[in-house]
Amino acid sequence: MFEKPQPFLAVILAAGQGTRMRSSLPKVLHPLANKPLIEHVLDAACEDNFRQKIVVTGHQSERVRQALSHRDDITGFALQDSMKGTAHAVLSARSDLENTPDHHILVLFGDTPLITSDTLGQAAQSLQDGADVVVLGFEAEDPSGYGRLVMNGDQLSAIVEDREASDAQKAITFCNSGVMGLSAAHALSLLDEIDDKNSKKEFYLTDAVAIARKRGLKVAAVKAPFEDVLGINTRSELATAEKIFQARRRQAMMRDGVSLIDPESVFFSADTVIDEDVVIEPNVFFAPGVRIEKNVQIRANSYLEGCHVHEGCVVGPFARLRPGTVLHKGARVGNFCEVKKAVIGQGSKVNHLSYIGDAVLGDDVNIGAGTITCNYDGKNKYQTRIAAGAFIGSNSALVAPVSIGERALVGAGSVITKDVPDEALSLARGRQVNKGRS
Ligand code: UD1
Ligand code: MG
Repeated sequence: MFEKPQPFLAVILAAGQGTRMRSSLPKVLHPLANKPLIEHVLDAACEDNFRQKIVVTGHQSERVRQALSHRDDITGFALQDSMKGTAHAVLSARSDLENTPDHHILVLFGDTPLITSDTLGQAAQSLQDGADVVVLGFEAEDPSGYGRLVMNGDQLSAIVEDREASDAQKAITFCNSGVMGLSAAHALSLLDEIDDKNSKKEFYLTDAVAIARKRGLKVAAVKAPFEDVLGINTRSELATAEKIFQARRRQAMMRDGVSLIDPESVFFSADTVIDEDVVIEPNVFFAPGVRIEKNVQIRANSYLEGCHVHEGCVVGPFARLRPGTVLHKGARVGNFCEVKKAVIGQGSKVNHLSYIGDAVLGDDVNIGAGTITCNYDGKNKYQTRIAAGAFIGSNSALVAPVSIGERALVGAGSVITKDVPDEALSLARGRQVNKGRS
């Protein structure tokens, strides 16, 4: 008979100030791949068995909560009103722990954004397998600053914080990542036994290990890859994490059928979604909110944000797609074109030197080189509508609000201020006059 796995309560610590970031933005809100650090952690803890998630806030508490208010996976917030250490932070969520006595506890740090659900799963599994305390450790090249995992054979006997460590302990390179699991049966009583008799006068979560050992409970250490547990304290570490994130994402994209001609020059956001058989040329940046369907070509030096590109489109080189852009099947947006909040119909072309903003284009529209939708009068924005099959001659200005009819033709260099009917030829420019030169 299989026992039902016990549920988990994830407690995510995010109360610290992050002094070394030297920033008015709380550390856990700094973006990695355009998503706040703490949201990476919350997403990694999204596996089914983390039924509950409590975020512990302190420094700029309101701002952190506000920034997370769009998420529906957070069960609640706990407030740590003074920084008295990691165990004290977990106990700020005491009422949540008491309300879910059957839940194992998994403590995560909000500033460890590269943690994967696989690695968390291993720690969780260890609790399911009967451990009362499990610590996620890693091998550090330079262990200074980290808590050291003191092993006795293959048993973990204690964690010693850097500032409390003897010279012999300082030589240990197996370090505490900060992720710790506590069994439902013992979590609260272990936390309650932790005191602040140490050089920082803080309640160290890490003391749970020695207390559990003293009680004869089962303590386990799980080794994680260093990259998974990289903590962000400085902007330099943030840049390192970004590099690792991008490297991972490029590999994942290629594994999923996306061709990157020069992977290292392509940057993704955490939420970028790209289907199979998309080819991405060098120097392309995906800001948040981009969805690319199959068989699309993104040519060199393009910048895409908040847009949906349907299958078979060609974007770039040197294209800028801004939020609210939708390119329907087979559309093209080419050299030095900017498209904002505009729908471009199937097979339509905006190929050279154009600005198309606040516009709706039907199918098979051709936008000549240098066409501008004049959408702004200094106060308000207005829409341009261009119906199917229309042809806009080069260097035209379409002064919105304005509509161009089906299969209408606008002569090159026109300034269009009035609607153009279906099938019409519209010319709105000075008539050419040729005179003798003398
Ligand atoms: C902690 C661990 C150390 C580990 C290291 C990994 C303890 C006692 N030490 O040390 O073993 O090697 O992380 O990076 O746990 N926080 C609160 N409230 C507090 C204190 C901290 O919310 O009162 C949060 C911080 O915002 C941060 C996390 O807990 O996200 C870790 O705190 P930090 O002060 O960075 O601990 P370290 O000294 O780095
Ligand atoms: Mg730290």
